[in-house]
Amino acid sequence: MKLRRRHFLALGAASAGGVLLSRWAIGQKQISPSAILTERYRNALAYKSQDGLLEMNLEAGNAVVRLGDRQAHLLSYNGQVPAPRLEAKPGDTVRIHFRNKLSEPTNLHYHGLHVTPTGKGDNAFLSIPPNERLTYEFKIPTNHPAGTFWYHPHHHGHVAEQVFGGLAGLFIVRGDLDEIPEVKAAREQFLVLQDFALNADGRIEPPNHMAMMMGREGSLVTANGQVNPTLAIASGGLLRLRLLNASPSRFYRLALEDHPLYLIASDGGAIAQPVELRELLLTPGERAEVLVKGDRPAGQYRLLNLPYDRGGMGMMGNEGMMPGMGGMRHNQGSQSPQPLATLTYRESTTSLPLPKKLMAVESLPKPGNTRRIELSMAMAMGTGMVFLFNGQTFDPQRIDASVSLGTVEDWELVNADPDRMDHPFHLHINPFQVISRNGQPEPYPAWKDTVLVKGGETVRIRVPFRDFTGKTVYHCHVLDHEDLGMMGTLEIGTRSGRPS
Ligand code: C2O
Ligand code: CU
Ligand code: CU
Repeated sequence: MKLRRRHFLALGAASAGGVLLSRWAIGQKQISPSAILTERYRNALAYKSQDGLLEMNLEAGNAVVRLGDRQAHLLSYNGQVPAPRLEAKPGDTVRIHFRNKLSEPTNLHYHGLHVTPTGKGDNAFLSIPPNERLTYEFKIPTNHPAGTFWYHPHHHGHVAEQVFGGLAGLFIVRGDLDEIPEVKAAREQFLVLQDFALNADGRIEPPNHMAMMMGREGSLVTANGQVNPTLAIASGGLLRLRLLNASPSRFYRLALEDHPLYLIASDGGAIAQPVELRELLLTPGERAEVLVKGDRPAGQYRLLNLPYDRGGMGMMGNEGMMPGMGGMRHNQGSQSPQPLATLTYRESTTSLPLPKKLMAVESLPKPGNTRRIELSMAMAMGTGMVFLFNGQTFDPQRIDASVSLGTVEDWELVNADPDRMDHPFHLHINPFQVISRNGQPEPYPAWKDTVLVKGGETVRIRVPFRDFTGKTVYHCHVLDHEDLGMMGTLEIGTRSGRPS
């Protein structure tokens, strides 16, 4: 089989360059290389750094992948959907020999990592044409927080399409959070959430105009490339769920039957202490880590995706104006709770406590400057709907925000859209803290890189610009909105010439 052979070649090259560990996602049991070649193991692969180096080959290309009971023609990294998980530690060097076997240009973005935005680092301005290669190389700072990060393509104009094709994988940084005894004792489970729109042939349905404006969604919702997989928990035990919303547009409003979720980490790593949640909203690009206590009667409990309305319904005026719009509300999230995975009690263990404290979240100094960014949309002549920051669509040549290294700024994100469409705002390279939402202070501090700005809301974030100069971007993480213009450039410069 062509697919398997390719897969094998990719693996062979990878193990020569770095270290390849393959594990069951749940059981953490070592499996043999021959077993790797069978499809049921495809989601269990991880590449881990060794002796300070994470080195691997990564190939973006077409793949035929099994999603639930469907054969799907998708885009993949190394034949896997979701892509292989990468794991590194603070201080490590990352060296990825990337090859583009897609029919379009692409590149790689390391979402949430605090690394250089220049050169062969997390550089959103690189373009790798079809059949070309590029070796990415950057260093993860020694003081980088531990957390759940991810990688995906970031070539403006193709981002939604390529991510919707399946190109997304976890990038884990292991560190202090993982060493907290109660966290360490928990069973670790990764959960990558992706949705797909397949036609009868198992090919991705191209979005219509309306779907692009709303942000494309698919009715096939998967966790780790599976439909409703089992999440094992021990009676008395703890399960650590590490969640990623890798969908281009779909929001996940998560609730676990009869079990509260104890939030321990957000986009940028640990929070100060666990926060008990009844439900958790994860917008595109966001991550969360939660602990689940196995303290209910043994049985099965569904992890549900509850209905959520992203707004924007008024934007086309009355329904008669745009054919095909009638079905949209159904495309945009389902109207009834949808099971994403099933928590299943397996064995039992001695009762494990929740951690009391996690990691202190630094309190940031007052900002030296405040900047206002207005999020809006407009109908452009000839091209249809465009999405805007401060009235402008993306221009890679223009610098929209110029900041100095070592400073702290407040950004006021204003979603003035009269149709009240939600936009998850994302900033590369430097994580931030949310200060307030419509003037209300946030209940607890957390490091974020993606924050929901609901229709009609004003969200204030505080960003320290540290360690790295260079040019990067911020954008809406509904990736169609990003492709349709809702992205800006940020230049981080040194403070040369100014008295200090
Ligand atoms: Cu996950 Cu610039 O994006
Ligand atoms: Cu990003
Ligand atoms: Cu948006």
